[in-house]
Amino acid sequence: MSFVNIKKQYLAIGMLVFVILFLFNTRPVFQCQFNPEQSSYLPTIYGITPTYLRLAQKADLTRLSQTLMLVKNFHWIIIEDSEEKTKLVANLLKESNLKYTHLNVKTQKSKHSTLLDINVCVFQTVKFNTSWYCASGVEQRNTALDWLRTHLATAEDKRGVVYFMDDDNTYSLKVFEEMRKVKKVGVWPVGIVGGMRVEMPVVTDGKVSGFNAWWKPFRPFPIDMAGFAINATMFLDHPEAKFSRKVQSGFQESEILKYFTTTDELEPLADNCTKVYVWHTRTQKPSILNPKKLKLKHPPIPDDHIEV
Ligand SMILES: *[C@@H]1O[C@H](CO)[C@@H](O)[C@H](O)[C@H]1NC(C)=O
Ligand SMILES: *[C@@H]1O[C@H](CO)[C@@H](O)[C@H](O)[C@H]1NC(C)=O
Repeated sequence: MSFVNIKKQYLAIGMLVFVILFLFNTRPVFQCQFNPEQSSYLPTIYGITPTYLRLAQKADLTRLSQTLMLVKNFHWIIIEDSEEKTKLVANLLKESNLKYTHLNVKTQKSKHSTLLDINVCVFQTVKFNTSWYCASGVEQRNTALDWLRTHLATAEDKRGVVYFMDDDNTYSLKVFEEMRKVKKVGVWPVGIVGGMRVEMPVVTDGKVSGFNAWWKPFRPFPIDMAGFAINATMFLDHPEAKFSRKVQSGFQESEILKYFTTTDELEPLADNCTKVYVWHTRTQKPSILNPKKLKLKHPPIPDDHIEV
């Protein structure tokens, strides 16, 4: 009889110890889950990418989107240079699991178009139609900035960083870590651009004192689009800030930066601009044989139904 009672007591004490241990164990778990979120705030990065139809478009966007999937708190604003949004881009975005906004605006052909400006315009062939394409991205980036302002105006959290990204550049994950430190405008080196191994701001005593650039060094800010990021909230403070069709090629960066900063205000990132975390790579234009022109005995099977 007493033996059974003792057993019950042991059982009760055992359960009490178990409950106490459980409470002590769970407390650190709760701390781990909730405290760091409050203390280590990650600003949202708004990546703005203009894109246009070409044979390597899906390949380039696949590579870029799969880099972006590894970036926390990232919102991709992708703007197609087209009358309508394409299925190719819409499906790629849907399948990406990225947070995104899909926009489109067709580049207007203007009488003052910079057709002679060989740096911006390329003679290209899409589905055997050859035409001039001026890849300046002005309308597309401005459309993205309009969306961003509308979005931030009603958003509870107006903080963030804006980064203009070409769809064929190469981005290290480290460049995104750097741009989260931006207070107003942050800058860093860009690899393989403007005829140089690396184009970069010159930093003296932790401040930008000039630029190491060969291509059009007389530009107010001789840096590539991939070499800076801007505090997103400042786009609300400067509703007039936008890109312009009226400037010559290579001046778009200066055009937008002039609204926000001066050279000595720039914040040098990437270890005082000594590290390369982004490269201005360009996808080579593929050459595809035209089966209609080749009088082959055994012509290839038509492949128009396959998305490439
Ligand atoms: C971004 O700019 C706003 C003002 O436009 C400022 O209040 C905010 O502190 C800035 N963010 C950072 C991280 O400095
Ligand atoms: C950049 O240079 C300044 C001045 O020399 C120095 O104080 C600072 O620690 C450097 N920053 C980094 C990230 O190395």
